[in-house]
Amino acid sequence: MSPSAVIEPFIEVTPLTALEFDQIRKLAYERFGLDLRHGKEQLVSARLTKKIRELKFHSFREYYRHVMEDTSGAALVAMIDALTTNHTSFFREPAHFDFLKAAVLLELRDRERINIWCAASSTGEEAYSIAFTALDAFDFSILPKLRIIATDISTRVLATAEAGTYPAEKFDGFHPEQMRRYLLRGTGEWQDWYRIKKEIRGAIEFRRLNLNQPFSFAAPFPIIFCRNVMIYFDRPTRQTLVNRLFDCLEPGGYLFTGYSETLSGMDQRLTYVRPAIYCKGKPGAMRGRVGKKG
Ligand SMILES: C[S@@+](CC[C@H](N)C(=O)[O-])C[C@H]1O[C@@H](n2cnc3c(N)ncnc32)[C@H](O)[C@@H]1O
Repeated sequence: MSPSAVIEPFIEVTPLTALEFDQIRKLAYERFGLDLRHGKEQLVSARLTKKIRELKFHSFREYYRHVMEDTSGAALVAMIDALTTNHTSFFREPAHFDFLKAAVLLELRDRERINIWCAASSTGEEAYSIAFTALDAFDFSILPKLRIIATDISTRVLATAEAGTYPAEKFDGFHPEQMRRYLLRGTGEWQDWYRIKKEIRGAIEFRRLNLNQPFSFAAPFPIIFCRNVMIYFDRPTRQTLVNRLFDCLEPGGYLFTGYSETLSGMDQRLTYVRPAIYCKGKPGAMRGRVGKKG
């Protein structure tokens, strides 16, 4: 440490009380549908204490007041950023990508446009994996007609996603040929990093979207990925979300959820296809449907 380095004083934060936990729990639920059940006190305390220290407050009471008084909503978004888990990886739950390649994308091959919604996309690995799968299924000629809308509630993860730059270990398990086709290696101090090629990044639009607020899109999607986010919501919130995702799917369209997010008993209109893959109606129904809306 250099002699001039400033040592920040350690800030004592008073422990989270039951009342404070309840206030934060209600706020996260009402605004974001986030289900912070009892038993999550420690998680909330650990994650928010870090924020409280950064802001140089000394208690959850002061922090809660700061969040409530910030009319821009930025403090609330930062709080939700700290509370949600953004864990993700390339080709997470790989059987989904196998099915996407072997069955779903082939149904759409004759379309002028292939629109895909990747909801709760976190730092982007999932949306890029969808793009890589489309490139594996076809080739780079697919790019002009491929449009992936990747959304998340957290502006922090969206910024990482948009940059499309990841440390080398994130690509463990990639075939050298895939690395060559899809990635550019950094140089100098970036030599242990890779950036997704520009033309692939160009097929993806990253946007902020809260799944628990009304959303609308110009046209329904043939494919929606909404994985590993419903686990944070309680059953009524999940039910509402599933209904709205159903409305955003075109007939014969596919919904991919997380492996631990079964929809059984949630929507009789969705046909179970295979683990965590559902279809609006009959699988295969999109085959041969050509059109700009796609
Ligand atoms: C565990 S990650 C899942 C990432 C990716 N879908 C996957 O399966 O690998 C959950 C993501 O959901 C986002 N999230 C949580 N609540 C949300 C909400 N109400 N609306 C939109 N995104 C939300 C979080 O910011 C986080 O990035």
